[in-house]
Amino acid sequence: MTAIPPIPAERLPSLLAAMPKAELHIHIEGSLEPELIFTLAQRNGLAIPYASVDELRRAYAFTNLQSFLDIYYAGASVLLKAQDFYDMAWAYLQRAAADRVLRAEIFFDPQTHTARGVAMETVIAGLSRACRDAKQLGVDAELILCFLRHLSEQEAFETLEQALPYRGHFIGVGLDSSELGHPPEKFARVFDRCRREGLHLVAHAGEEGPPAYVWSALDVLKVERIDHGVQSAKDPALMRRLAQDRIPLTVCPLSNLKLCVVPTLAQHNLRELLDGGLCATVNSDDPAYFGGYVNDNFLQTFAATGLDARHAYRLARNSFEGSFASAEAKRGYVEQLDVAFAAAAAA
Ligand code: ADE
Ligand code: ZN
Repeated sequence: MTAIPPIPAERLPSLLAAMPKAELHIHIEGSLEPELIFTLAQRNGLAIPYASVDELRRAYAFTNLQSFLDIYYAGASVLLKAQDFYDMAWAYLQRAAADRVLRAEIFFDPQTHTARGVAMETVIAGLSRACRDAKQLGVDAELILCFLRHLSEQEAFETLEQALPYRGHFIGVGLDSSELGHPPEKFARVFDRCRREGLHLVAHAGEEGPPAYVWSALDVLKVERIDHGVQSAKDPALMRRLAQDRIPLTVCPLSNLKLCVVPTLAQHNLRELLDGGLCATVNSDDPAYFGGYVNDNFLQTFAATGLDARHAYRLARNSFEGSFASAEAKRGYVEQLDVAFAAAAAA
């Protein structure tokens, strides 16, 4: 669609909810709702240091990335069996389908589980069965294995070796966890190996870390997408590079708000990224912890920043363009997007 038909502002919230979209930045362990944490703890005979779901939810008051990660890794410790991983992923995929997500590229953190004695096979079996079943929901779901950057590159190599027997079950690798002090170049050799395996490459960079981390994710790791990347706006040369090379940025506004990367949603730089010609997208990151799934991110960010229907179209289209779907699948998704916008204009 070259010209977006005029759509009255009052129709924007329903359009945001109904428009087809891809979610490219969701940590499946970050979709574990407090209710499911309690259910799984009971099912697995584990004690948790909170008396109730409400008490656990009240602990979700974060001051920065690390304050969140400490609670996030503790929450994931209730996952033991393949069925637990399945139930977590299935709950997310149902939410995604309700938010009109046609494609989900889902991060998982195997080291969080293998460090507790859970086998790689258990993790991947549960998650990949849920992704297969997601077809019934109308969601094309794929997995991306993330290395924890606070651990060593040697541990990332060991994780890769454990995962390669299940190579057919994930499409790429990423880099997440504590960013500051753990620059992308720490993982240069393991990403090189992954590239030779034909895996897609992405990395968190420029969430809390400086533009230099985005540069090295691009030039040393040679990633195809940057996760977050919001700090790139501090570096005009980097903005030009990201725009010229159409490097997708998987932006997560509610995450940035809850982790104090931005003081208010109204001050989020999503508009600046779009105006700079970047392939920015909107995503939920860790929806169970940050107060919203992908549509909540769209609705709250648009309400706070005054973005309009043209931005909505651009963001949804970027999400498909920036995905690792086949060219044919991308064409099909964009056709559905155009149908949704034509229907909203005609309504
Ligand atoms: N793991 C889960 N969520 C994350 C985030 N926002 N940044 C880095 N690592 C993460
Ligand atoms: Zn993330």
